[in-house]
Amino acid sequence: MAEPRILILGGPGAGKGTQSRKTSEEFNVKHITTGELLRANKDRDISEFESEYDVPRTYMDQGELVPDEVVTLLVKEALSQVNGFVLDGYPRNVEQAEELNNMTDVDDILYLDVDEEELVQRLTGRRIDPKTGDTYHIKYSPPEDPEVEKRLEQRDDDTEETVRERLRVFRETTEPVIEYYEERGQLERVDGKQSPDEVWVDVRKAIENAQ
Ligand code: AP5
Repeated sequence: MAEPRILILGGPGAGKGTQSRKTSEEFNVKHITTGELLRANKDRDISEFESEYDVPRTYMDQGELVPDEVVTLLVKEALSQVNGFVLDGYPRNVEQAEELNNMTDVDDILYLDVDEEELVQRLTGRRIDPKTGDTYHIKYSPPEDPEVEKRLEQRDDDTEETVRERLRVFRETTEPVIEYYEERGQLERVDGKQSPDEVWVDVRKAIENAQ
């Protein structure tokens, strides 16, 4: 079976990272996530681009999108090194969707559908283990090991105020991307309100059917 090329779209906290990690393991493809790429480059000088601020951090901590040129460059670099992939966090606006058309074909585009209040609950309760990178939720999936619990950290952009702003940006800027793919008959909706394991059953089935 050829290595699949998959896009996973969804609002902030819809479970893109959770489902992309499973996809990467199961189908043996690279997980490319713009959120992680940008967090690793948070303080990189981007003043050579047409940007209002000098580093990605300023955009991210306010819940705003980092300029297209910066993100597209990182995605291009990452895609040039792989055959199959699961891409999470890109495209975030119609311009990025058009850039992606010029970079690669994709086999399947999945949209994890979750309502806004659920997204706020998920993100404000999310905690990351800085040692392993594993993601937990203080209510839905706390760690069993108290040592892990002690070292958990909250992402800088998971405060309620920033989460609300990220949702506003999603509604205004990224929902048109959902319509863009829907109009082209390329989008497959997955019920993202189910438990992570139930969502995974649907995601895996969709990817297998697209092969
Ligand atoms: P990014 O890191 O991509 O953030 P996001 O899209 O807001 O998504 P998240 O990573 O917060 O959530 P997720 O959908 O991966 O959910 P997760 O699986 O962790 O981007 C961050 C910032 O970078 C942006 O704000 C922007 O500034 C910049 N950026 C990124 N891409 C860009 C681009 N293309 N252009 C410009 N700027 C860009 O799950 C969330 C929580 O819910 C966890 O606690 C998890 O345990 C829990 N959970 C997951 N699934 C379920 C479930 N089914 N049921 C119950 N709980 C669940």
